[in-house]
Amino acid sequence: MCGIVGYIGSKDIKKILLEGLKELEYRGYDSAGIAILQNNELKIYKAVGKLENLINKTKDLKTEGFGIGIGHTRWATHGKPTELNAHPHMGEYSYVVHNGIIENFKEIKKELNDVRFISQTDTEVIVHLFEKYLQDLNDPLKAFKATIDRLQGAYAILLITKADPSKIFFAKKGSPLIVGRDGEEIYFASSDAPLIGHAKEVHYLDDGEWGYAQLGEVVVYHGDRAIDLDFKPLTLNKELAQKGGYRFFMEKEIYEQSDVITETMMGRIKDEEIEFEELDQEFLHGIHSIKICACGTSYHAGLSGSYLIEKLARIPVMCEIASEFRYKEPILQKETLFVVISQSGETADTLEALKMAKDAGLKTLAICNVDNSSIVRLADRTILTRAGIEKGVASTKAFTTQLMVLWMLALYLAQQKGIDPKKISRELEAMRKTPQALKVDPDLHERIRRLSKRYLHGHGFFFIGRDIFYPLALEGALKLKEISYLHAEGYPAGEMKHGPIALADPELFTIALMPKNLLYEKTKSNVEELSARDSTICAISPVAFELADDFIKVQNADHYMLEYYEMAVALQILAMEIAIRLGNDVDMPRNLAKSVTVE
Ligand code: M6R
Repeated sequence: MCGIVGYIGSKDIKKILLEGLKELEYRGYDSAGIAILQNNELKIYKAVGKLENLINKTKDLKTEGFGIGIGHTRWATHGKPTELNAHPHMGEYSYVVHNGIIENFKEIKKELNDVRFISQTDTEVIVHLFEKYLQDLNDPLKAFKATIDRLQGAYAILLITKADPSKIFFAKKGSPLIVGRDGEEIYFASSDAPLIGHAKEVHYLDDGEWGYAQLGEVVVYHGDRAIDLDFKPLTLNKELAQKGGYRFFMEKEIYEQSDVITETMMGRIKDEEIEFEELDQEFLHGIHSIKICACGTSYHAGLSGSYLIEKLARIPVMCEIASEFRYKEPILQKETLFVVISQSGETADTLEALKMAKDAGLKTLAICNVDNSSIVRLADRTILTRAGIEKGVASTKAFTTQLMVLWMLALYLAQQKGIDPKKISRELEAMRKTPQALKVDPDLHERIRRLSKRYLHGHGFFFIGRDIFYPLALEGALKLKEISYLHAEGYPAGEMKHGPIALADPELFTIALMPKNLLYEKTKSNVEELSARDSTICAISPVAFELADDFIKVQNADHYMLEYYEMAVALQILAMEIAIRLGNDVDMPRNLAKSVTVE
């Protein structure tokens, strides 16, 4: 996830671009850059790290008078955060900023064999492709259209060129892009926030829309057809705009999951197999087992992943809590692949566990959301989850994207072991439906909001599930604890009868995860045992359960992983709605920090 901005007009361009990027810094801050075209002169500035570095670098730049400009704040997906990899990317006389992932960039790069690429990014192909088409077609608009027609994947693009110095060319597919105007002046941004105070009205571009803008004019096409623009007045509240209209960042992040999971999968699911450019046979050679180490939510994703890898790839996996692992004098064997999972990449316990594994000579792999973080820098290999910045302290999209990487990893390892392609094919079919399973159904949200009022008191919650739904139960309980401050435990459903069932009474709330496709009857018996002892039951399942006091119906029931993902969303919403009713600060719960860099 990155942020992009653009401007056409006579105000101070540098100021508008940098202020706009400041509003988008939450979308990525490992590097930033701006390109300005004024008096037929192109100026470009880039800096690694926080936007502050770019602001310092441009402090003597004067940009009064008419001009056009584009800017970008980066969240690295291809290539390290360096100045060369920072946007805007340049051709001979054109500059581009891009948010998204160009899946076929390698193929395009091969075709452009006479071009010297200077970055490791997928984006750089766009500007070179554009200049090649411009040479052939001698028309910037046609060249831009020919360029975007070649791109596969997701993108929001702004391009400027000396060949047509009064225009910004733009295109959107899969990544957000908004065009705003105030009289003659034109603005672009990835979200509303940079536009507030500048643009009076905005048009939210739809997927497939592209076109150009110049002073006083915006022309948008869908395919070859020019479309009528639907400009609407812009909200004046900045904070609301940053939250995209949601009440909390956590809520926004819950709703984002359906889109970001597509970014996690992008370029990694190819026809009938999984490809990871981050892995190869040599790296995995000699590996007979896997150890996963993580904390909190990342541990829950890891534990879920351990079930998946054992099920699908038949490789033994142990998942451990990093803070425990460090002091237990673990036995580390060279044929074990050591996998750490971390949203932030800075969690001290996980980092220390990784150091121990490295010191013992193990091969290490990080599954992480933050490129260039301490964990990423230390691990031998990294698979980025591409969830974008997560602001809510309670992890949501970090969890579902981590799990997607682990599911893909399980299949990748299964492929390497030559496991039945039909089995892999069935998994891939389900995987492709994940964005749908993660899409929040407003009716379901409303139903959970209403039933949440019954769960504000009582003496505790048990979240129960079996198999991979046990780690999901742990995660559901953690979400509730973190933001509602109510006592909740995750438990394997079959283990309740070995002690915890003694707590059962109407004031003990059982949140039962009852997937249709995995051990339904077994879980049902365990829930019946609790119901017989008068526990209040909230069942989450595709199958109606007559003993449930409350029932949350799951719609995606073709595969247990689709049930898993839909249930994950339901649990996140349940925790959030209970916390809201209790009047808690959902995004910044008491006693917690987003990144735990102490032991
Ligand atoms: O950044 P990490 O994934 O390494 O963080 C690990 C935990 O601190 C984190 O998951 C924590 O449990 C979250 N607040 C959960 O919502």
